[in-house]
Amino acid sequence: VRAYDIIRKKRDGGALTEAEIRWVLRGFTAGDVPDYQMAALAMAIFLRGMTSVELGIWTDAMIHSGRVMDLSRIPAKKVDKHSTGGVGDKVSLPLAPLVAACGVPVPMISGRGLGHTGGTLDKLEAIPGFDVRLDPEAYARTVAEVGLCLIGQTDDLCPADRKLYALRDVTATVESIPLIASSIMSKKLAEGIDALVLDVKTGSGAFMKTAELSRELARTMVGIGEAMGRRVVAYITDMDQPLGRAVGNALETAESIATLHGQGPADLVEVTLTLGAEMLVLGEVAADVGEGRRRLQAAMDDGTAFDRFRRMVVAQGGDGGVIDDPGRLPQAEATVDVPAPSGGIVRAIQTEAIGVAALVLGAGRETQESIIDPAVGLIVHKKVGDTVAPGEPLVTLHVNDRTKLSDAEARIIEAYEIGESAPAPRPLIVERIAA
Ligand code: URA
Repeated sequence: VRAYDIIRKKRDGGALTEAEIRWVLRGFTAGDVPDYQMAALAMAIFLRGMTSVELGIWTDAMIHSGRVMDLSRIPAKKVDKHSTGGVGDKVSLPLAPLVAACGVPVPMISGRGLGHTGGTLDKLEAIPGFDVRLDPEAYARTVAEVGLCLIGQTDDLCPADRKLYALRDVTATVESIPLIASSIMSKKLAEGIDALVLDVKTGSGAFMKTAELSRELARTMVGIGEAMGRRVVAYITDMDQPLGRAVGNALETAESIATLHGQGPADLVEVTLTLGAEMLVLGEVAADVGEGRRRLQAAMDDGTAFDRFRRMVVAQGGDGGVIDDPGRLPQAEATVDVPAPSGGIVRAIQTEAIGVAALVLGAGRETQESIIDPAVGLIVHKKVGDTVAPGEPLVTLHVNDRTKLSDAEARIIEAYEIGESAPAPRPLIVERIAA
């Protein structure tokens, strides 16, 4: 086999064989297939796509490029959730303990913020002491004992994806549905799970801005799951405005704790219950999503979900006292309101700009080396459809570095479209896609 022939075959629209796919990914991971040949192949895949058969083999080869977590000693069905990312999307924090409290173990390997979107690991690290770098043994033990564990990707998990993602990032080959789908699914299926719920975000704060692209990505990932013998259900959910009110790491962690106490914003609660109910069905502890929702609601109401969250935090080195008193989470020095320049009804929010405003304040990374400030971010007061008076606060910024203030303020003002008439309503849960 020669890398040259594989690239040429894909360039000309051919389908690669199992032997070709496994050879090229093994060689790339080992360093025998150089970056320039893999980059050319990635571009050929970007332009020509992959068949569902190729995609199943490709994903399997990525999974087996490294360690596959073994959670077989935990007898229950293990179920995880993955979101394609958004602004204010802190669903994993309340969701994982809720589902675990209902008897379905949740092993969750999460990511950091990417571009304008936040990352679960960054939010958890706002809790003093919280360690996202457990070794595989501690990870498995925590899932077994507490019912959930949230960690970052280890070096030996899907190394082919790590290398390929870095190449794609600099060769304009990120936005390829088969490459995105196999990248996400390989990492999730290496976690040791039996089933997966996907939250594919759509709208101005998502990577997939249109429902069509979101649907295609969701279908592709569900298809990969099916090819790998795992049950995968995808939901397309709205990201045309921030989810909940908090954007920024400690602020989102505090909102997640409030949600576990039954005091969460309605949209965040709805997405959490929708995805969680599906996880309980996949985990075979609820007969249908109606029963799933009732059980989740009960775990929220009686405090058992909060208790799971607290136990997980303590098991991972975090300060449980901070979970009991979220006022002890990192706090910014100043809060600054951004007033509405005119009155009317909020017609739309350019959600990516809201994410970038939080990033500019220090909640996200400008470069790979940037250090996140857990305390900063913003609270959204006015959402789509809300009435606003001139000068009323749209958003409150939580600020440490005042030199960033005017940039963030300008982005907020720019992001809000305020008009005379109410916008057409958009569903929060857009579509469910299953095999
Ligand atoms: N997230 C991933 O993990 N992989 C991609 O390719 C895109 C987003």
